[in-house]
Amino acid sequence: MFTAVEMAPRDPILGLNEQYAADSNPQKVNLGVGVYYDDNGKLPLLKCVQAAEEDMMKAPSARGYLPIDGIVAYDNAVKGLVFGADSEPVKSGRIATIQAIGGTGGLKVGADFLKKLSPSAKVLISDPSWENHRALFTNAGFTVETYAYYDAAKRGINFDGMLTALQTAAAGTIVVLHACCHNPTGYDITPAQWDQVIAAVKARNLTAFLDMAYQGFGNGIAEDGAVIGKFVDAGLTFFVSTSFSKSFSLYGERVGALSVLCKDKEEAARVLSQLKIAIRTNYSNPPIHGGAVVAAVLNDPARRAVWEEELAEMRVRIKAMRQKLVDGLKAAGVKQDMSFITSQIGMFSYSGLTKAQMVRLRDEFGVYGTDTGRMCVAALNSKNIDYVCQSIAKVL
Ligand code: LMR
Repeated sequence: MFTAVEMAPRDPILGLNEQYAADSNPQKVNLGVGVYYDDNGKLPLLKCVQAAEEDMMKAPSARGYLPIDGIVAYDNAVKGLVFGADSEPVKSGRIATIQAIGGTGGLKVGADFLKKLSPSAKVLISDPSWENHRALFTNAGFTVETYAYYDAAKRGINFDGMLTALQTAAAGTIVVLHACCHNPTGYDITPAQWDQVIAAVKARNLTAFLDMAYQGFGNGIAEDGAVIGKFVDAGLTFFVSTSFSKSFSLYGERVGALSVLCKDKEEAARVLSQLKIAIRTNYSNPPIHGGAVVAAVLNDPARRAVWEEELAEMRVRIKAMRQKLVDGLKAAGVKQDMSFITSQIGMFSYSGLTKAQMVRLRDEFGVYGTDTGRMCVAALNSKNIDYVCQSIAKVL
C-alpha cells in the first residue's frame, strides 16, 4: 500500500531543529526557528505564566471538552488585545474569534473557511513570506502566487511593486499580509504605506488576511497592532490570525486565534458557526491549558502588567543583539556594511547570505539559519554572538 509513497523533504524551518539536535558540534547555535532565548540561551518561562499556573494548581479542575471555539474568556481577551478592549468592533460584537492551535491553526481554520466561501479565489503572499504560508494555503486547495516585497539590492521593500500587484489583483483575491515584524525579512512597511495598501485592498475588493504572530516584538503591543485599527477605520471586513507562542513563550502549548471582523453582530454569528464546522471536522475543539493561562494573565490587570514588562524585556534584548551583531561582524573583519540589520525589526534578520553560505555555516560551524538566509536574532546572546560573527565572517 505504501510502496509508492515518496520521502517528503524536511520542513525548511522545523526540519532544521532535527538537524540541529543531531549535530555534535559543541559550539552549535540554532538561529533557524523563530524562538526567543534569553541571554543564557534558555527558553524563558515567563513569571506571569508561572504565577497563573501556580494559581491553577491550587484549584485543580477536571478537563471536560471545551466549546468548539474555545474558552470564552480567552476569545474575549484576544478580541481586546487585537482590536482594543474599548474599540467599536468589540463593543458592537461584530468579531468572530476562535481559539486556535497556534497562529498556524488560525491560518488553517481561516483558509478552510475561505475555500468554502470563495473556492476560485487566488491567494497572494509576499515574496518572500513565511515558508509555511504557501504550503498551508496550497493544501487548503488554493492557487498561491506572490506580490513583490523584498528588494535585495535596496536592502528594504519594493513598495511600488507590492502596491502594483495589489492594485492589479482580481477582485476577491485573498492577500496574506504580515501585520508586523515581517517574517522572514524583518522589514515592515510604514504607516503611510499601510494606508496605500488598505486603499488598494478596498478599491480592488480584496480579502485581507493579516498574520500577526509577533505582536509586541517590534515597537510595542499597541504600536505593532496599530495596523488592525487602520483596517477597521477603513470600513473593511477581514481576517486576523494571532499567536501567543512567542509573546508568552508558550510555543509548545499551541495558543493562537483567528478573528474575523464582520459587518455586524448577526453576520459574525453566522461566520462563527462556519468556523466551528471547520474546527469540528478537523480537530473537534482546542486544548485547555495554554488558552486558560493566557486568559488568566490577560484578564488580570496586575499579571498583565507583568506580561507587558516581560515582553518589553524580550523586545529590548533583541534590539540590543541586532546592534551587537552589526558591531561584532565589523570586528570580525566583515567589510560590507551590515548596518541594515538594525533597521530590520522583530525576531528575524534576512542576512543576504546565499543558500551555499547558509549550508556552509551549518555544516562547518554548526550555525543554523534557513536556506533563504534568515537568522533568528532572538536566539543570539552575549555568549554565542562572537562565535556567530566569526563564523559568518568566514563564509562571507
Ligand atoms: C518561524 O517562522 O520560525 C516560526 O514561525 C516557527 C514556525 O512554525 O515556523
